[in-house]
Amino acid sequence: MSSNWIDAKVIENTHWTDTLYSLKVEGDIGDYEAGQFGRLGLMVDDEIIGRPYSFVSAPHEDFYEFYSIDVEEGLLSPRLGELKAGDHIYLGKKANGFLVLSEIPDADDLWMLSTGTGIGPFLSILKTELPWQRFKKCILVHAVRTASELTYQPLINNLSAQHPSQFEYVPFVSREKTQHALPGRIPAAIKNGTLEDRAGVKIADGKSQVMLCGNPDMVKDAREMLEQRGLTKNLRRTPGSISTENYW
Ligand SMILES: Cc1cc2nc3c(=O)[nH]c(=O)nc-3n(C[C@H](O)[C@H](O)[C@H](O)COP(=O)(O)OP(=O)(O)OC[C@H]3O[C@@H](n4cnc5c(N)ncnc54)[C@H](O)[C@@H]3O)c2cc1C
Ligand SMILES: NC(=O)c1ccc[n+]([C@@H]2O[C@H](COP(=O)([O-])OP(=O)(O)OC[C@H]3O[C@@H](n4cnc5c(N)ncnc54)[C@H](OP(=O)(O)O)[C@@H]3O)[C@@H](O)[C@H]2O)c1
Repeated sequence: MSSNWIDAKVIENTHWTDTLYSLKVEGDIGDYEAGQFGRLGLMVDDEIIGRPYSFVSAPHEDFYEFYSIDVEEGLLSPRLGELKAGDHIYLGKKANGFLVLSEIPDADDLWMLSTGTGIGPFLSILKTELPWQRFKKCILVHAVRTASELTYQPLINNLSAQHPSQFEYVPFVSREKTQHALPGRIPAAIKNGTLEDRAGVKIADGKSQVMLCGNPDMVKDAREMLEQRGLTKNLRRTPGSISTENYW
């Protein structure tokens, strides 16, 4: 076994839909920061196939949780979806990634914009104390194709109950009509103001920090809309307001 991996065990595989599942894993890779990603691996034809997956679990929890979609004809994700409690899995030894609050400058509002499984790192962050201590408002935006993909409702309802005036949750469903979710896509809703109207919060340079995660096309298109509003990419040498992670 390559020294980059440790042996670990699946403790639960929760299927939300035919293609979406959450894996809980037991092992010991030491510390990570909410918002980071680890690696999951399986032996395929005598070789460990590994891919990065964001932690949905928070550092204080005693298991690791990952939220994944079966990518059609994908090499690893359909295999991960079939795992059951007790199955062996490889865990990458080290966590990585910069979509973390320690990289985010202070602001009034923290926007977390996600598509699909890109909601994962934001759930990890929201399970910790830090966002509630640092920001007046935390706005979680989750864009999916169908309402059944608006997963993690029990956790999201808990966050709403715990932080009633500080937390806003804005779901988008793009491919069917719903009563409660916004229709369409995130970038268009930034452009025409419906996202801010729904959240009851304005996006403005200096006031807002925006984190984006998931589909790279959403990340690119939303970033363009935010740049038109004067926000800039957050870099260590030149702090700004936009922080991103692409899943492919
Ligand atoms: C930093 C980072 C963190 C990631 N975290 C997650 C995570 O928390 N959850 C998760 O589901 N995926 C995540 N991914 C994607 C994941 O690593 C794999 O790429 C994905 O599971 C597909 O692997 P595969 O071997 O099945 O497909 P492959 O055979 O490697 O095929 C890859 C192709 O699948 C598509 N694809 C990859 N990821 C996705 C996705 N999430 N949704 C839709 N299409 C995709 C793209 O077209 C990509 O080119 C992350 C990727 C990165 C770079
Ligand atoms: N979700 C499914 O039912 C399903 C089924 C089979 C296969 N898959 C495969 O699984 C992968 C991931 O599916 P997914 O549903 O998580 O992800 P997805 O295709 O990224 O869709 C998630 C959300 O992102 C939106 N989106 C797509 N491009 C965008 C852009 N440029 N700007 C803003 N928003 C954008 C989608 O809107 P639009 O609806 O307008 O595109 C949708 O609301 C894909 O490779 C897909 O082929 C998914």
